[in-house]
Amino acid sequence: MSVGNGYLGTRGSLEGQAPASDAATLVAGVYDRISEESIEELAVVPDWVYTQVYAFEEKLATAPVSILRQVRTLDFKKGLFFREWRHRGRNNRVTSVRFLRFASLADPHALVERITIMPENYRGSISVETGLRICRDCMPGLEITGKLVHPNRNGLTVEARTRFTGITIVETQKSRVVPGFISAEHGSRVNDFDIVEDWSWIGDAGQIVTIEKFISIFTSRDGNNPLQAAHRHLRRLEGRGFNGLLRDHVAAWEERWRTAAITVAGDEEAQHSLNFAAYHLISAGNPGDGRVSVSARSLTGSIYKGHIFWDAEMYILPFFIYTHPPTARAMLMYRYHTLAGARRNAAAKGYRGALFAWESTGSGADMTPAAVLDPKGEIVPVLSGKLEHHIDAAVAYATWSYWNATGDDGFLLQAGAELMVETARFWESRVTQKGGVYHIDGVEGPDEYHDEDVNDNFYTNCAAACNLRRSARVIEYLKENHPIELARLQERIDLHMSEPDQWHRIAAGIYRDMETDSLIEQFAGYFSLEDIDIREFEPRSAPIDVVLGHKRTVASQVVKQADAVLALYLLEEEFTPEVIRQSFAYYDRRTAHGSSLSPSIYGLVAARLGLMEAAMRYFRLASRIDMTGGNAAGGIHVAALGGLWQQVIMGFAGVRIKREGISLFPHMPEKWQRLGFSLLWRKLRLEVEVENGRHVTVAVAGKGECSLGIHGRPLQAMAAGRKYVSLWSGETWEEFTPWQK
Ligand code: BGC
Repeated sequence: MSVGNGYLGTRGSLEGQAPASDAATLVAGVYDRISEESIEELAVVPDWVYTQVYAFEEKLATAPVSILRQVRTLDFKKGLFFREWRHRGRNNRVTSVRFLRFASLADPHALVERITIMPENYRGSISVETGLRICRDCMPGLEITGKLVHPNRNGLTVEARTRFTGITIVETQKSRVVPGFISAEHGSRVNDFDIVEDWSWIGDAGQIVTIEKFISIFTSRDGNNPLQAAHRHLRRLEGRGFNGLLRDHVAAWEERWRTAAITVAGDEEAQHSLNFAAYHLISAGNPGDGRVSVSARSLTGSIYKGHIFWDAEMYILPFFIYTHPPTARAMLMYRYHTLAGARRNAAAKGYRGALFAWESTGSGADMTPAAVLDPKGEIVPVLSGKLEHHIDAAVAYATWSYWNATGDDGFLLQAGAELMVETARFWESRVTQKGGVYHIDGVEGPDEYHDEDVNDNFYTNCAAACNLRRSARVIEYLKENHPIELARLQERIDLHMSEPDQWHRIAAGIYRDMETDSLIEQFAGYFSLEDIDIREFEPRSAPIDVVLGHKRTVASQVVKQADAVLALYLLEEEFTPEVIRQSFAYYDRRTAHGSSLSPSIYGLVAARLGLMEAAMRYFRLASRIDMTGGNAAGGIHVAALGGLWQQVIMGFAGVRIKREGISLFPHMPEKWQRLGFSLLWRKLRLEVEVENGRHVTVAVAGKGECSLGIHGRPLQAMAAGRKYVSLWSGETWEEFTPWQK
């Protein structure tokens, strides 16, 4: 139920505070620490939705006995959060209260709430206090440096500072009663933990009073004078008014849905979860700030402390690349801005180039905790920060994919090429050569159950080879197309033209002998581990590694999440269909899906294999992670939502993206009568529709032409302004032909 715009996120908590409703507003990039030595985490800034209503001097509290009706509604399409509440107080007095809030997508610094109050069956005094509340128990806590109230044309203001990172946060508020026949008294107060405006009046039964509240928020990350910026901005918000701000916000959401929407006919649950996914993905990204990216729980909760993982590149970025490239670009610029930290990480470990932080915040320094407590209260060391080096390949993969899809050479020259070079340099220094073969020893692959110095993790080896190859190709591209800029880059980062040749050599020589004719071994020695049938432990109430214990898990073939299977998806063209089929079946039986990143990838590969029952089972598993409540309290699993988008587009529609163009090969769930979505590709917008699994149409809009085709057949040239169709012959998809009405 959170609202957000990538700049900030506000949890769907109740306005009046309730024991089971943790209010929090998180601002991307506003990290602090609990102590000098601790790792950074997102700070909770003052709660702007704090409102308390009094009727006949009785505080309306959300205690179960007094609730006649309580409905919370999130409008995915418009980004609006509604709450409707009928409260029965003393002497059977019934008050109806409604709230509508949004974090503007049109103006990321603007927060807006409308409060509507109506005494239903009595006449009497009503008062409302609404303001900015400081979280007293939140860690890390803010240092409050200023509080200001009326009379003052700037409204209420709280100024706070993070204790260790020294970021200033300013929130200002102004509220007003919508003119009517009511005359309300107005005042304001500063308390220890809040600063509020009061409105009070004598209400009549059936008489509605509406209060509109505008909040502006700026931090020192936005400029030198956040106080002045917030005050100026607040005046602008007042001038635009509630309806104007609402219109701008709704128009911005409409614009985003135009490319983000996936429509499914015949499966309401799927449609609902895909809307939920797109809503939270759109809310998570900020195209306007290249110094932040999307963290593991976006801005909706405190688990993982707002840290940015490979989730951003491998799971979330694809959604933005093909539906809103400016956000994808900003997320990649974030990695560029953390390059200095990544270079230091690599150097500290004795490697060249850059090694991105496994858990990253503002500077690029690694923020992975050294240890955590497991559910049994035991201290477990966390090795991912030291060993999950595949993060570099993820950054390179996303850099390449963004550039390939957009043709944004400007980005390549500004940042992308440098990301490609520094990640390739890392792998070059990371591999060890034995008899002409390159090994990557002592890593942790995506499967975090095997975290103790794994050698030749198949996924890592393949991803590193792909990184090296693509980095070399980027330099070759620049040599041909932008020689002057390449010369400048060479000078800036001391790049020698012998380096790309060496990258090609290593890529070609990376060890892959864990791949036989029919099966991939997840890492060297994996097949000799204890083979445990995880089905024997179903149903489980705890993750399998907790059930088995760490020691036994490490010594077994139980897999936490898509690892070898992720390689089957990303590097499909490198494997025979037999290897894909057999390996999928093998790992399917051994994977516990202990990470929310896992089910969508299994579902995707299953869909490509035409295993529709498994594909659908995984789709439901992935889509219910947050929809069923489970452990969403710590925040939305936004990578799982990005995975869901990929499962539909790359799995059910079977889209494959190549340098030369796009191919697809739909495998539709039987229930789905129609699937529709758009993809942005270079200067074009492709509208794809699959009808009853029998025909697929692609309408091409924009400028120019593109190469598109059915997977497994040669690509075909398609021109903008036209529509093409391919029919299912009963056995396969036929070539595209121009659409005739
Ligand atoms: C997964 C990682 C993921 C992290 C954050 C872990 O449980 O194993 O792959 O990056 O969660 O979502």
